Amino acid sequence: MKEKKKTMETKIYKTLDEQEIEALGRLLREEHLVAIPTETVYGLGGNGLSERAIQKIFAAKGRPSDNPLILHVPHKESIQSLVKEISPLADKVMDAFWPGPLTIILPKAEQVPYMATGGLETVALRCPDHTICRHILEAAGVPIAAPSANISGRPSPTSAQRVYEDMAGRIEAIADAGPCTIGLESTVIECEHNKITILRPGKITREMLLPFAEEVVFDKALLASEAVPKAPGMKYKHYAPQGEMVTLVGEVSKMGPYIVKAMKSYWKKFEKAKIGLYVSDEVGELICNTFPQRTEAIVLRSFGKAEDKERQGQQLYEALLSFDEAKVSYILAMGSKEEGLGFAIMNRLDKASSHKIVEID
Ligand code: TXA
Ligand code: MG
Repeated sequence: MKEKKKTMETKIYKTLDEQEIEALGRLLREEHLVAIPTETVYGLGGNGLSERAIQKIFAAKGRPSDNPLILHVPHKESIQSLVKEISPLADKVMDAFWPGPLTIILPKAEQVPYMATGGLETVALRCPDHTICRHILEAAGVPIAAPSANISGRPSPTSAQRVYEDMAGRIEAIADAGPCTIGLESTVIECEHNKITILRPGKITREMLLPFAEEVVFDKALLASEAVPKAPGMKYKHYAPQGEMVTLVGEVSKMGPYIVKAMKSYWKKFEKAKIGLYVSDEVGELICNTFPQRTEAIVLRSFGKAEDKERQGQQLYEALLSFDEAKVSYILAMGSKEEGLGFAIMNRLDKASSHKIVEID
């Protein structure tokens, strides 16, 4: 197949002083595409009120057009003209968690193009907790539609380098503000009366939302794979690495020995295969000590202490990308208990490992 012709040079902005922010704001306003940093993952930004810019976003990502975009704003006040109404519950939740990794679905105002909402009467809104991002949003002066800045079907990028790998030649600019601190996409919620439904789990957890509503539930599709998800994007096959991947859950102290055994039996079948591991430091150390002669066949990505969910979430996508780069054919990843942030981590791991989850007890 002929490689697609690259049409533009993608400029990387790193200084991000007032002048650069102004320039990036102008590019966005004028319907160009700019990758923007946020606290969750990098976004592929474009003028959210311009059908031309939105069309460019779908084209650059290769994204199905029925999958709606999130509009990003610098302040809560900026959503007034984008929505029909704000329920008291939605208002309370925004006050509590904005700026932050929470996207809220509200009835859209007329000026929000259907192209941004995938034809829906609702619009997804988010105010990121990232100073540079909010400065860029202010400079743009228009709401910025921004899906994650990856080619559809790849993991969301958590660094400017990863954005560049997917988007070079497809977008005008990248604002490089270093790695994202959260590393998993925002929690997406819907509010009705006194009930919050979580359509996509993230850093803002069910537990954190509970004080605000009588009921906080997960969209059925998150719990049973047969149900149709309320967030159209959740129905698409998500990133799975090239290698066969298995997620392990259960007793942490038994993970190391289990992994050692699994590696040995894999190498019995495929002597030369490379194995990728996404594990705690402690498990990583055990593996290195067990196979001192095989370090070149092990791609170890350890994330810190087993209970450090924050880092486990933050480094997950980067680890998955590096496994493909190293051409590993088998991946073992430590999972998490499904509570707090662990729910979001397991949601991504479950998809990455094509639902291959092994319970160790
Ligand atoms: O953290 C994030 O949310 C990142 C950063 C860049 O802000 N953005 C992001 O966007 O993850 P994206 O487009 O990759 O995911 C948006 C999700 C999709 O699952 C989409 O279907 C859902 O939000 N969504 C958007 N608008 C919706 C709507 N009106 N109703 C239901 N779901 C909606
Ligand atoms: Mg995405």
